[in-house]
Amino acid sequence: MYKGLIMERIPISGPWITQKEIDYVTDAVTNAWYSKANMYHERFEKAFAEYLGVRFAISLPSCTSAIHLSLLALGVGPGDEVIVPDITWIASAAPIAYVGGITVFADIDPKTWCLSSESLEECITPKTKAVIPVDLYGNMPDMDAINDVAKHHGIAVIEDAAEAIGSEFKGKKAGSFGDTGVFSFHGSKTLTTGEGGMLVTNREDVYRRSLFLRDHGRRPGDKMFFNAEVAYKYKMSSMQAALGLAQLERIEELVAHKRRIFAWYEEELADVDRLALNYESPETKNTYWMVSAIVDRQFGISKERLMELMDKQNIDCRPFFHPLSSIPAYQNLEQARQARERNKNAYKISPYGINLPSGLNITKEKVDYVCKALKEILHLQ
Ligand SMILES: Cc1ncc(COP(=O)(O)O)c(C=O)c1O
Repeated sequence: MYKGLIMERIPISGPWITQKEIDYVTDAVTNAWYSKANMYHERFEKAFAEYLGVRFAISLPSCTSAIHLSLLALGVGPGDEVIVPDITWIASAAPIAYVGGITVFADIDPKTWCLSSESLEECITPKTKAVIPVDLYGNMPDMDAINDVAKHHGIAVIEDAAEAIGSEFKGKKAGSFGDTGVFSFHGSKTLTTGEGGMLVTNREDVYRRSLFLRDHGRRPGDKMFFNAEVAYKYKMSSMQAALGLAQLERIEELVAHKRRIFAWYEEELADVDRLALNYESPETKNTYWMVSAIVDRQFGISKERLMELMDKQNIDCRPFFHPLSSIPAYQNLEQARQARERNKNAYKISPYGINLPSGLNITKEKVDYVCKALKEILHLQ
C-alpha cells in the first residue's frame, strides 16, 4: 500500500473562501436590516441573472425548493408524470412526489453520464408533463436533443444545474436552457452560501408565480399580510446572499480552479487503462464539480470496496450515485421496476464509480497522493 506522508484526512469537497466573502458577510450582518434587509438579495439575484444571461433569478434556501417551486409554477400536479435521469441525487426527484406527481426514471448516456435523449423519448407518455435533465457532476447532456424532444411533445424543461455553475453547452451557460434552471449553493458546491439555491427563468409568468408561492401565497411587497393562497416559505438570509454575491464575483477563478484540479487528476491517471474519468465533449465546457472515476469491471472491485480501501488511506470518496430506481426510497414503485429493466447504462456504470476528493482547497501534492493510492489499489504500481 502507498505509504506517502499524509498527516490529515483529504475531504471530498469544500469551498474557497477569501477575505472578500468575510467582508461581505460582515457587512450584511452589520447593515442588512430594516429598510436595507434585501440589499444583498437584490444584488446577488441581479448579478446571477446577468452572469447566466437570463431575465429573472430568485434566491432560495436550497435547490430542492427551487425544483419544488418550478414544478408548482409550471402547473405539475397529482398524476402528472415527470421524467428524471436514473443517476442523480434524490433531490432532483423528491419534489415530484411533493406535488403528487409520478416519477419516471430514464437512462443516462454512457459517455456524459447525463440524461439520454433517446431514453427520454422512450419514457414519454400522454401523461408526461415535464422533464428534469441534470448537469451531472458539472457535465451537461445534449441540451439541443433534449429540448427538441421536449418541444415536440409539449413538455416543460426544468434544468437541474445544481452541480454545474459555469458549465456551458455550445457556449451557453448551464441552467439557462429550460423553462426554469435551478442551482444549489450547498457547502460542497463550486459556489457556496453554506446552504442555498437559485431558480432562474426567462418566463415572467413563472417568475411571478414563484415569487408568490415562495412567500406564503402573497403578492411581493404586500404589507397587509393578506394571503391569497396557502403556500410556502422559501427564502435565504442576507448573510447567505452576501456570501453568494462575493463568490459570484469570483466565479471565473472558482471555475478555473475546478478545471485545474481535474487536469491534475487527468495527468496523473493518464497511464491507467480501463479507467474512465469525467467526459468533456467538444461542445461542452465541464466544470468538474466532482472528479469521478469509473473502473472497469474487469478489475473486479466494487465502488463500496474501493471506497473502503481509499478510506484506509485517509481519503474521503463518495459513491457514484446509485440508480434512483435501485434505492429503498423508490423500491416498490412500478416505475422503478420498469427502470431497473430498461436503464442498462445506469446499472452498468454506477456499481464501479467513485467521486474523488474535489474540494477547492486540495493541492497538487494531495491529488498526486490520491492517484497513487488509487493506482496501488488497482495493483498498477
Ligand atoms: C443534482 C442535484 N440536484 C439537486 C440538489 C439539491 O440541492 P440542495 O441541497 O441545495 O437542495 C443537489 C445537491 O446536492 C444535486 O446535486
